[in-house]
Amino acid sequence: MARFADCVAVITGAGSGIGKAAAARIANEGGKVILVGRTRSKLEEAAREINRPLRIPAAEVFSADVTDEEDLIELAEYIEVQYGDFHILINNAGVSSKGKILEMDAKDWDHVQSVNLKSVFLTAKILGGLMAKGAARTRGNDNRAIVNVASLSGHQAGALIPHYSSAKAGVINLTRSLALEFAQYGIRVNSVSPGFIETPLTEKGLQNDKFVKAIERNTALQRVGTADEIANIIAFLASSEASYMTGSDVLADGGWLIK
Ligand code: NAI
Repeated sequence: MARFADCVAVITGAGSGIGKAAAARIANEGGKVILVGRTRSKLEEAAREINRPLRIPAAEVFSADVTDEEDLIELAEYIEVQYGDFHILINNAGVSSKGKILEMDAKDWDHVQSVNLKSVFLTAKILGGLMAKGAARTRGNDNRAIVNVASLSGHQAGALIPHYSSAKAGVINLTRSLALEFAQYGIRVNSVSPGFIETPLTEKGLQNDKFVKAIERNTALQRVGTADEIANIIAFLASSEASYMTGSDVLADGGWLIK
């Protein structure tokens, strides 16, 4: 039996990188996936790619900004009308920029906090509420999970990413608060903290040979990771195989922190 048969999953920031890989993984294992992001054309391209090898299309798109409450309310209404319920929420949308605190505009600080951290609060409140309603109907007898994508930077602060590091540390602790509150509905909440992964977010940095060499030197496994390697962990945490896990963070940094 496919791990995600009869599951409906929402993945934010699913047009590229880790989000797209996680959506593909869930779709390949029988789930219906709703790809959420701001740019419709990018999401549609990702959905086409995911659906291509499948006999029955599993991916569809919904354009929404994860920092916009109205967009998320519309998404919840859409899911309710279209599916009546949903089971898995992957909070993957994220953004980063480089800057020193002494030179940073408050606008940049707020933007990074909003996309990485506030979005998790908003989706948990709006979409988590819908998931909890579904859980009451099915008496908590099905697998329901939220997976938040945090970061190695949430464990170890980066000098030039103070806004991002603090937002991701917030995601790790918010995950624990959510796990406490949502346990009563049978909804598990965990996070994954990737190290350096090759995606559009890191593309520019990874073109710098010196930077890549430094990552290889400081990572026990001596390489950057792939989006699929993180998608594997997201899928595990989202699946019933992780049925006794909630409030946990899974660090997948290739052994950066142990060096
Ligand atoms: P990515 O840039 O491919 O993915 C981020 C996605 O979020 C993009 O598709 C982007 O359009 C979307 N997004 C940004 N702002 C949004 C908004 N306001 N509303 C809706 N969608 C929005 O990069 P990647 O690497 O796949 O990032 C996925 C997650 O993994 C992020 O949360 C990132 O912080 C996290 N991460 C990535 C690492 C890496 O080395 N690539 C390391 C640790 C964490």
